[in-house]
Amino acid sequence: MNNRTPLIAGNWKMHKTGAQAVEAASGLKRLVASATGVEVMIAPTFTALYQVGQVLKGSPIALAGQNLHWESQGAFTGEISAQMLADAGCSQVIVGHSERRQFFGETDETVNMKIKAALSANLTPVLCIGESETEREAGNTFSVLDKQVRDGLNGFAFDGQADIVVAYEPVWAIGTGKTATREQAQEAHLFIRNLLDSLFGKPFASTVRILYGGSVKPDNVKALMEMPDVDGALVGGASLNPETFSKLVFFND
Ligand code: PGA
Repeated sequence: MNNRTPLIAGNWKMHKTGAQAVEAASGLKRLVASATGVEVMIAPTFTALYQVGQVLKGSPIALAGQNLHWESQGAFTGEISAQMLADAGCSQVIVGHSERRQFFGETDETVNMKIKAALSANLTPVLCIGESETEREAGNTFSVLDKQVRDGLNGFAFDGQADIVVAYEPVWAIGTGKTATREQAQEAHLFIRNLLDSLFGKPFASTVRILYGGSVKPDNVKALMEMPDVDGALVGGASLNPETFSKLVFFND
């Protein structure tokens, strides 16, 4: 047993207009109103953040951005800063999602700058890491995770306060319907926690939430959540429908 409160996080990616996002958030707010002992987060698109934030007022569901820029302001056309996310109502932000790494040139170095920017604006970063299928098949899973954690959190020092969430998302499991087995997830999560222990100490490693992401669905969530180092889920496809997502929030029922 541990004291980590499970976190069920929904990444809506590039889905839903403002009106659709408001409708889904309102539905979710109602559906998870009675949930206890679990935290819930949703990450709508930038254009829907403010509206969804208004809907979530008075509810424990946290609002998150899906990405941010590392500077607080400036001539960076098309970018959004941590301060702007906070202003729109966010308390968390997803950093280094594999789709950003794959399609938008995100590197461990830019991820690191973004983590620092998020923390300095009091946003909880959700650092996404994970190996590709080729990397796993070549037996490089742990070395990939090691580099992503070390470089992504380079310069970070735990002061007893800073909240960081790590999401282990094997790239081959995202949006593919191919979930890692719970043993594979546990093995990776334990590796990550031990690494965080060696880098930042036990008080950090024992409290940090490590989420699993990659085709999490109502029929596999419970088995994953039973693993000792799986502290929650980062969910794409199954987070879009409030009924489905609420089943993940009530994973224990
Ligand atoms: P998925 O996405 O649940 O659709 O596999 C997970 C993610 O990308 O965070």
